[in-house]
Amino acid sequence: MKKKTVRFKETVGIDIGSHSVKIVHLKKLHEGFKLLNYEIRPTVPTGIEYIPSDLRPERFAPVIIEMLKTLRINPKSIKHLVTSIGGDNTSIKQIKTIFLPEDELESALFFEAKKHIPISGTDMVLDYQVLSVEEKTNNMNILLAATSKDVLNEHSNILVSAGLNPNLVDIDSLAVANSFALNAFAEDGVYVLLNLGAHRSNMVIWGPDSKLFARDIPYGGYNFTRDIMRRRQLEWEDAEKHKLEYGLLDNPDVANVQTISMLDISEKSTEDSIVDEVRRSLRFYVKEAGNSDFRKLYLMGGTAKLKGLQEYIQDKVALPTELFMPFINVEMPEKFQDKKDPQLALAIGLAMRME
Ligand SMILES: Nc1ncnc2c1ncn2[C@@H]1O[C@H](COP(=O)(O)OP(=O)(O)OP(=O)(O)O)[C@@H](O)[C@H]1O
Ligand SMILES: [Mg+2]
Repeated sequence: MKKKTVRFKETVGIDIGSHSVKIVHLKKLHEGFKLLNYEIRPTVPTGIEYIPSDLRPERFAPVIIEMLKTLRINPKSIKHLVTSIGGDNTSIKQIKTIFLPEDELESALFFEAKKHIPISGTDMVLDYQVLSVEEKTNNMNILLAATSKDVLNEHSNILVSAGLNPNLVDIDSLAVANSFALNAFAEDGVYVLLNLGAHRSNMVIWGPDSKLFARDIPYGGYNFTRDIMRRRQLEWEDAEKHKLEYGLLDNPDVANVQTISMLDISEKSTEDSIVDEVRRSLRFYVKEAGNSDFRKLYLMGGTAKLKGLQEYIQDKVALPTELFMPFINVEMPEKFQDKKDPQLALAIGLAMRME
């Protein structure tokens, strides 16, 4: 096999989240990577309510520009930039087809993708990767990644407004899988990855030899804040503070009989809704992939830091649950020390993507 030559020395991964932008700047070493710098910055100023439906593209470019300045990165000089898209109208799916020669593959897959992926055919932008060809049957395992022209255009516009050159655009859940594959030691078996964001979360099921599955769960940190507002009769800002300080654990100074009596038991809590969705996807995966060898569940994203959530999920899903350490395989200068912030998981998966 021909060895790929490395054409760049530095790489930048930008995860443009609805709540926060995350940038990771890495240096490519002979083997592996070294962290040059990183930055996390909210897209909404502190104290201003985060509204998940407010995804105006104009909101992001100024934040990215400021962050690049702080990081001393000249947008025009970036040789290897990887960003990602996600949400509605993006999809990844692993499928199996009969063997097809390369010149027929693309049109056949386009046809196939229309069956599996709910994006209207004319708008669809499709990418694929042949994962393996099975020896006995000659069947091909293929990973399809699809989005719409609109989603891609909007994303490019944000980058261009920030002075960047859209280069490689990944899909959120693939970057999550990539981050895990490159920063964790996965033995056999299947791993569940939950990237818990602000208004949605990516769930990915991945294993070195098992089928890839990805879907989004429509809950995130925003929903936890809303729960606290409702239960404790707090305004958004105080509820957000309460969330960051206590998470799912109770603040003994605030908890009182009144808050308990106000709890509306007909409304399911966000943690329960997330657990339900995870369990449902696991059942689906067992049926689809015929594999139930789940080893561990990893939490990443900003909401992975919610106090008490890890223990809650571990207890309810009944799988060993850990916070994902995104920099475990990245050389880190002493000034950073901390390999832990799970909010950077996706950005690092992007920055470490080679092709
Ligand atoms: N220490 C913490 N404890 C609890 N929640 C936290 C903590 N730090 C950040 N969060 C929450 O994490 C969320 C932001 O996480 P993240 O950056 O992963 O989201 P995002 O990528 O911007 O959102 P999305 O992917 O949904 O568009 C916010 O809801 C924020 O309140
Ligand atoms: Mg996110």
